[in-house]
This record gives sequence, structure tokens and C-alpha cells, in this order.
Amino acid sequence: MSEHDTPPLIALHGAASSLVIELAAGAPLWRYWGPRLADDFHAGTGLHASRPLPSFTLDANPQFTVFPTFGLGWFGQSALLAHRNGRDFAQDFTRCTVTWITTGSAVQLTLHDDVAKIEVMFTLRLDVSSDVLTLSTQLTNRGSEALDVQWLAAGVLTLPADSIQVEYFSGRHNSEFVPQVDALGRGQWRRENRRGLTSHDDFPGALVCLPGTTDHEGIAYGAHLAWSGNHTQLIEWLDDGRYQWQFGEWLAPGEIRLAAGETLRSPELLTTCSGSGRNGIARNFHAAMRQRMTWPDGVMRSRPVHLNTWEGFYFNHDITALKSLADAAAEVGIERFVLDDGWFHRRDNDQRALGDWWPDQKKYPDGLGPLAQHVIAKGMEFGLWVEPEMINPDSDLYRAHPDWALQLQGRPLLTGRNQLVLDLSQAAVTDYLFARLDALLRELPIAYLKWDHNRDLVTAGNRAGSATYHHQIEAVYTLLQRLRSAHPAVEIEACAGGGGRIDAGILRYTHRFWTSDCIDAVSRVSIQRGFLQFFPPEIMGSHIGASPAHSTGRSQSLDFRAAVALPGHLGVELDVRKLNASDRSQLAAWIALYKQLRDTLHTEIWFGDAGDSLLWQAHGTAEQFLLIVYRVEPTHQRHMPSIKLPFVDVASRYQIESIATPSDDTAPLAYNALQFDGSWLANAGLPAPPMKGEAAVIVSIRKC
Ligand code: GLA
Repeated sequence: MSEHDTPPLIALHGAASSLVIELAAGAPLWRYWGPRLADDFHAGTGLHASRPLPSFTLDANPQFTVFPTFGLGWFGQSALLAHRNGRDFAQDFTRCTVTWITTGSAVQLTLHDDVAKIEVMFTLRLDVSSDVLTLSTQLTNRGSEALDVQWLAAGVLTLPADSIQVEYFSGRHNSEFVPQVDALGRGQWRRENRRGLTSHDDFPGALVCLPGTTDHEGIAYGAHLAWSGNHTQLIEWLDDGRYQWQFGEWLAPGEIRLAAGETLRSPELLTTCSGSGRNGIARNFHAAMRQRMTWPDGVMRSRPVHLNTWEGFYFNHDITALKSLADAAAEVGIERFVLDDGWFHRRDNDQRALGDWWPDQKKYPDGLGPLAQHVIAKGMEFGLWVEPEMINPDSDLYRAHPDWALQLQGRPLLTGRNQLVLDLSQAAVTDYLFARLDALLRELPIAYLKWDHNRDLVTAGNRAGSATYHHQIEAVYTLLQRLRSAHPAVEIEACAGGGGRIDAGILRYTHRFWTSDCIDAVSRVSIQRGFLQFFPPEIMGSHIGASPAHSTGRSQSLDFRAAVALPGHLGVELDVRKLNASDRSQLAAWIALYKQLRDTLHTEIWFGDAGDSLLWQAHGTAEQFLLIVYRVEPTHQRHMPSIKLPFVDVASRYQIESIATPSDDTAPLAYNALQFDGSWLANAGLPAPPMKGEAAVIVSIRKC
């Protein structure tokens, strides 16, 4: 090949994005990931051939490959850090086998290092409809001695030189998805989570934006690791001006030692590129999440309204009170009654009983059957809270099997919320959990499990004294799958003190996330926006809670609480019996409204910020959609800003109708039958109604 020939390229094309990899002597080179290229694009000459050798550079001048490794001239972050008893620390792939899984959209690159005796299979699948590129890596030890693995990237991505900022989320219990922005420069940007579960603190996803990117416009990249444990992500400037983005599981020292012939599979890394800003990234990820989920009978039913007993009852379970709660719940239109923590053997507070998964004899002398039957007789489904991976030292289970808890010899048993974590690498433990949960699901008419996880993992050692974070996650996925196979009609909610385990890994086995233990509606506006950047609204648990909110002490009107909860998977988490007649009928009206709107709410979403604390979101299609406007704080302006809706069809005319919400307060401006041109809505905007702080307006907008 002369130096002016185009080298062999691999190109994957989605609807709006493309990636290009250049085949080279060893590992293929990253050439491009971004907006869609023409089918017959021409990439010019190859990287190796076309780049003059700068001074003080190795003569071979290694370039940025799809899987760069340390030791033979690549000075950036390595995609693999591994050694064999201190040797074979330098790796280099000299051969690559290309296998197409689906021509043009999914390919497997198998990389061979015949000296270090390592094989890496790197899979790239670009889903044409969603533009989501899923990456994963498999590392196989082809040597005869064990290979210690410190880092294996699930994916390595190229980002353009004009990437200016990374947008990500920090947080804590009761305050998930706190938005953060860091400028990208010459240093390495890095986030690590070592809490043993997804965490409230470090959501395993981020966006990278190019200059001028907004909610609606501009080029943005997104990545999200489908994993419920530790993780690392990093973005690093490369010496040709690009950036590399790596994402993978964070491994504890000594955690992964591959015996001869053994393979380590990385989690999947979901990534996407959009030319329509953050909303484009959200749309692509929502499509991918919807594809990943498996619903009973293969399709999602309209999301039923929940009643969750936690904040209304906590541990005070009284069967008569709970039956009367069920009566009141059914009257306001609740469709699923979820009995939260407090129902099992001696569970009167958070200090004991986790592990003893049978009904408390005093609270439920005849078991849970009578309550479940009562709920079902009222036309609702019955759901139950469990926290299977946990054990309290004060439990029959711990007294019988103290060696079942994760622990390290010579180290104290560190509790969190008074509890320890079970060691799921022991088959006896997962068999016990399966047997207890299976018995509950067989003996009771349970349609739904809320599956909790209320602490971080520490002293996470297995019986051999090695770190077992990785295995713990694989084992919980296996347990969930075993239960799903045995009880395919049961839906499962993932919860970890609210949003501590929200990720696309556990979503393969579950159907809803409990977004946050904070139900304060003002806090929820921003928590939910962060959640919706990655996940679709129908799996976002959003409840109408009490006022004042238990988590913050702030009070909000029932209308505002309901309007904020409305677009997700709606629930109620308060003692409905204690509401006065007017609040009760308002709650029933909101539930009726949700039932009327839910199938439109649970579709595509666009977000926007009109300034002056006026946030909006539109749900539906560009033909017909619902616009929800939240005013979080009182205005600082004399007149309201306009709300520009850039996603509408500029060639059409639209009719606006107010949706009659249960209180007059939320719909102070009648839009009824007002008409606007799409071009006006997109460019000049819809005049916002005057609104007080902590209020919402909902309108329906459709093409005439
Ligand atoms: C966690 C959950 C709550 C509730 C309690 C019960 O905090 O997030 O919703 O289920 O546990 O102990």
C-alpha cells in the first residue's frame, strides 16, 4: 500500500451517528465517532502513513488504538493494567481478527498479544434506531500462569479536540443526581466509585459537550456503564489533540486473578452521540433502556398507581389500620398496594431481623395472606418490600450462620444502618435467599417486589479473604434472574436507600427505580431531571408524599407535589386516611388525571429552561404533546419569560388547551383554543402564565 492509499476501514453507521476504525498492523486505530457520515465517505490517508514523525518520538510512534496498552510506546492511560507475578506488565497486540456480528452495525475485534499471552475481545454494537453504541470487553488469559488484573476498560472512546466540558452527577442519600460541570483541559478528569454499589454519590454516566451545546442543539456525547458496583471513568487529553474516554469496573487490589484459560467479562458500556444536544442524548438512552428491559408477557402495561406504606406507617404495622388504608387507597384510585419494611419476623425497627424473611407472628398472626387478599378484593395488586442481600447481627439467620456475612478476618464487622451484607459468593447463601423469596412468591399473591439495599459494601471479603465486590454484583444479577425465571409475572423495583442503585445493569432484571427517598417536590424537580437524562419516565418512581416532607421539612401544596410526581411512575406515600375530605378528593382527581395522561407522559421527552426559575418538559410527539411548566422559585421579573419550544414542526400551526388540573391555582391562564404557528413557538415562544413559586401548569399542544 502506498502512503496515499486509504487504509482498510471499519465503519458503523447509525441513524444520526457514525464511527470509523482504521485497521492497522496490530490493534485497529480510533479514527472517528460523531455525527453521521455519508455512506461513501472518504477518510483520506491512513494515520500511520500520513503523520510526519515529530522530534523526540519513538520511531514506531504508536497511535491511539481502540484498546491502547502500556509498555511499548503508548504513554496515555492504558485500557488494561495487568501482570503475571510482576512480569508481562507490558502488552502489545500484534494481531487482530475482525468478525462481523451484523454487517455494518456490530463487530467483534479480537486482539492477540502472543508474548504476554493475552487475548482481548472488544465488541462494538451500534443500534441503528437509537444511535446507542454498546461496547464491551472480554479478557482471556492465554498463558499458563495466573494473570492479575488491575484495570480492564469496558470501552475506550475517542472524543473530538473541541470537547469543552463534562457534565456529570454527584449526590448523597436524599439528594441524588446533583448536576456538576467540569471544564476539560490538559489534565486527566477522573471519577471513581468504590462503595460497592452504584452509589448515590457517583452516578456511572456523564455527558461531554462541544462548544455551543444546549438542551436542544449542538453535539453532545453520552456514556453510561451498565453495572451496579464500583466503577472508574476518565477523560484524558491525547497528544494529537483528541481526548480518550475510558469507563469500566473499578477493581480492588487482588480482586481479579485469572487462572490459565479464564476470562473476565466487562460490564456493557452504553454510549451515544447526538447532534441535538442533551435532549438528543436522553432520547437515545431512553430508547436503549426500553430495549434492555423485559416485561412480564413481553410488553409494558400502563404503569399502575402505587400506594407505598413506608412514610405513612414506617415500622408500625397494624393489620386493621393497613386494611383501612387499603380501603382508602382503593377509593382514591390506587392500583397497587406495596407493603414496605416492617412486616417480617421481629422487624420493629431498623436494628434487627434482616434475613428472617417470614411474616412477624405478632403483627400478622395468620401471615400476610389476609392483608394481601383484602388488597386484591379491593381491586389492587399486592406488592412487598424485601432487602435480600442484607443481614442484621440481631437475626435468627445471623445467629445460625455468622459466617454468611461479608467479613475480613481480624477486622471489625462494620455495620451500616445496623446491618451487614451477605456474602453472595457462597452458594448456600443465594440458595437460602432464593428459597425464602420463592416461598413468599408461591404462597402469597405477590405481583411486585421492592428490592432494597441500604448500605455500602466494606470489609467485602469472601471466605478466602479476597475482595468480592465484582462477584457480589454478578451473584445478585443471577439471583434476580433465577427469581424472574421462576416467577415471570412478578415486577421488581430496584431501590437502595432511594437512588443508590440506579443503572442499566440492574435494569435488565427490574422494572422501576425508587428515584430518591427525598419526596420533597422542589428537590425532586432537579433529581428527576438528572434521572431522565438517562432513563425513561415510566420507570421513575415518583410519589406524592406528605407535607411537610419527611426528608427536608419543607411544605408544598398538594397540587405542586402531585404535578411534580405526575410524569413518572406515580405513587402515593402518605397515610391517605389522614387527609381531609378536600385533599382526598384532590388526590383522587390527580390520580384520575395521571390515568388519563400516563400513556402520553411515558413517551418521548424534551426539556428546557426558560430562565427565571421556569423549567419545562414536554412529553409526546411533535404532533401532539403535553407541556409541563414548573416554577420552582418566585419570579424576579415583572413579566414572565416566553417558553421556546424548538422541537415543534415550524411549518405547522398548533392549538393550545389548558389541562384542567384539580386546583385553580395551577392553571391561572386559560390557553383554551389559542393557536400559534410552530415557527412562533420555536423562535418567539409561548407566553408563560403568571405563576407563584412552587407551582405547575400543564397544557396540551397539538397540530391543528
Ligand atoms: C430505604 C428505602 C425506603 C424504605 C426504607 C425501609 O430507605 O429507600 O423507601 O423502603 O428503606 O427501611
